[in-house]
Amino acid sequence: MSFNIAIDGPAGAGKSTIAKRVSKELGFIYVDTGAMYRAIAVYMMQNQIDIHDDAAVQKACSKISISIAYSDDGEQQVILNGENVTGLIRTEEVSKMASVTSANPAVRATLLDLQRDLAAKEDVLMDGRDIGTNILPHAQLKIYLTASVETRAKRRFLEQQEKGDTHTLEEIEEEIRDRDQRDMSREIAPLRQAEDAILVDSSDLSIDEVVERIKECYREVKQ
Ligand code: DC
Repeated sequence: MSFNIAIDGPAGAGKSTIAKRVSKELGFIYVDTGAMYRAIAVYMMQNQIDIHDDAAVQKACSKISISIAYSDDGEQQVILNGENVTGLIRTEEVSKMASVTSANPAVRATLLDLQRDLAAKEDVLMDGRDIGTNILPHAQLKIYLTASVETRAKRRFLEQQEKGDTHTLEEIEEEIRDRDQRDMSREIAPLRQAEDAILVDSSDLSIDEVVERIKECYREVKQ
């Protein structure tokens, strides 16, 4: 049976950086589910789908096929209808769109089986919003990784600045608050800590410290 690690938490808590490191060090396959929601958001944007029109979104979903692949350096690539869209998914506009479209049941249904199938086959570390609560309720290790809004906004701001993005810190903080609100209050599979998840607050921890803590949790569960 495969071993599954679920890491959930709000935007900017450091999930993907931490998840990449932990999975590499433990020899797990890393699955970034946010990237899949982002790819669907790209489709909706490219095809000018009215995301508030449920029937239009549902119809669009029936035309969407998402898969993932890994580049030679081990980075996850997300494939949308045969096209690698990895380079298009990390903008603020796509972040916002993904947060809105991911509340739609048809969008979530499009990804559910793919995510469960991936975890059934191999030792997978999967990160997202509803992995421990909904996608992999039987994951052997669940982590809820969070940090204060201010810390998360600052991290995201520095990250985006490096990419040449011109959004201000205030704009990014507001965007993160909006995303938290949407991701936590939606009806279907909202972001919340699973009852059996271990809470890790990374506000005052270095990346190394968080990685070490999660590996420690893994060793304890494995015993
Ligand atoms: O982790 P991320 O920022 O790449 O995720 C982008 C959006 O996708 C996020 O705002 C909410 C949604 N998402 C989700 O609803 N469920 C997941 N398992 C992962 C992401």
